[in-house]
Amino acid sequence: MQRGLSLPAHLLHLHILPLPLLFPWWFPMLTVAGPGHPVTATVGQDVLLPCHLSPQRDARTLDVRWIREKFSEIVHHYRNGEDLYREQMGAYSGRTELARDGLSAGSLDLRITGLRPSDDGLYVCTVRDADAYDEAIVKLEVAAPGPELGKACPGLSSAPDGLAPSVPAVKVTLDPDTAHPLLVVSPDNKSVRRQTERQQVPDTRERFDCWCCVLGREDFREGRHCWLVEVEAEQIKDSWWAVGVARASVERKGWIDASPKEGIWAVRYYERQLMSLTWPNTRLPLSPIPTRIWVCLDCTQQQVSFINADNGVEIFTFTAASFNGESIRPWFWLVSNSLQLFLRDSTPQTPSPALGGSCSSPDTPASPLLDPAGAEGWDAASRGQAPYSPWALPCP
Ligand SMILES: *[C@@H]1O[C@H](CO)[C@@H](O)[C@H](O)[C@H]1NC(C)=O
Repeated sequence: MQRGLSLPAHLLHLHILPLPLLFPWWFPMLTVAGPGHPVTATVGQDVLLPCHLSPQRDARTLDVRWIREKFSEIVHHYRNGEDLYREQMGAYSGRTELARDGLSAGSLDLRITGLRPSDDGLYVCTVRDADAYDEAIVKLEVAAPGPELGKACPGLSSAPDGLAPSVPAVKVTLDPDTAHPLLVVSPDNKSVRRQTERQQVPDTRERFDCWCCVLGREDFREGRHCWLVEVEAEQIKDSWWAVGVARASVERKGWIDASPKEGIWAVRYYERQLMSLTWPNTRLPLSPIPTRIWVCLDCTQQQVSFINADNGVEIFTFTAASFNGESIRPWFWLVSNSLQLFLRDSTPQTPSPALGGSCSSPDTPASPLLDPAGAEGWDAASRGQAPYSPWALPCP
């Protein structure tokens, strides 16, 4: 104390300032900046957590650690040109990547692939060298593709409240009397194809006249039922279709607002994007494009689930669906030309080879959910021709 008081007054005052500011040559500035806002993504997607050195400087010689809450919870560790996986948390094994190209420019962005619900939360981007340290916090919000995901695994045979496995597949056929004139239903009523020429069919009350839809003949009022729909198209990537269920009273004439409000619960694939036809539409992870889909209707619980039959991954579930005590029928919408949908007789045990215990992590996406380049190519190449825009059709 005595010594302190004996210090010249101006030095005493300086002691309140942070040391790095006082002696910058001892503490070379190392400042890390995050995105400043939460990063959001959906289960199954890949995500990039942004983080960079500010001002910009080469990060290749630094020790970069992405961690969760504690230093022992290492998501990714990079030091001196090497990725070090020894201490990495098992949950991130094989799923992380530091954008190496950016390191020399000070970018510490971390890519996490195949997001899981458990990835949700805080991440800390930390950097140190011999005499400096800084960190930035990045919040990752992982949205479930459906309200049920993470709670149950309907595609798994052991799922306690799963729909598909415990429910025998019902035989579903198409009702040609409801089919739009461009839709050709096979003689066995098990498949439907869209063609370019209208057929001469009576324009009855039950027939769709504007949108290329068809209903299943069966209607359901109670219990649980699943059926398998298979999609076939020349270019499946650029096809456009929707499958689901509808109230028996669903509107057949003119424009249809395909949403629960109008009594339709469905998922739609178009413009290389899978969506649930909620209002507004919800984008769903796409890995890969599902072409065999279980539609599972639970009249009692008022739920409709969609499950990728190839890997058992739940695509989406509508809950609290307002069936209003009406009967519910299978519903199909074929927007692309030369597209074909098949109703397959099969038991819902087919899926699951890809499921190694974790229901909430679909296979690593073959491609990122959003592919701007691809989307542009699609715009330019195909959309201009409007080969299957419903608006190109004259609706009465
Ligand atoms: C298909 O539907 C038509 C029209 O409703 C019906 O007459 C026919 O018997 C059905 N075919 C089969 C194989 O069920």
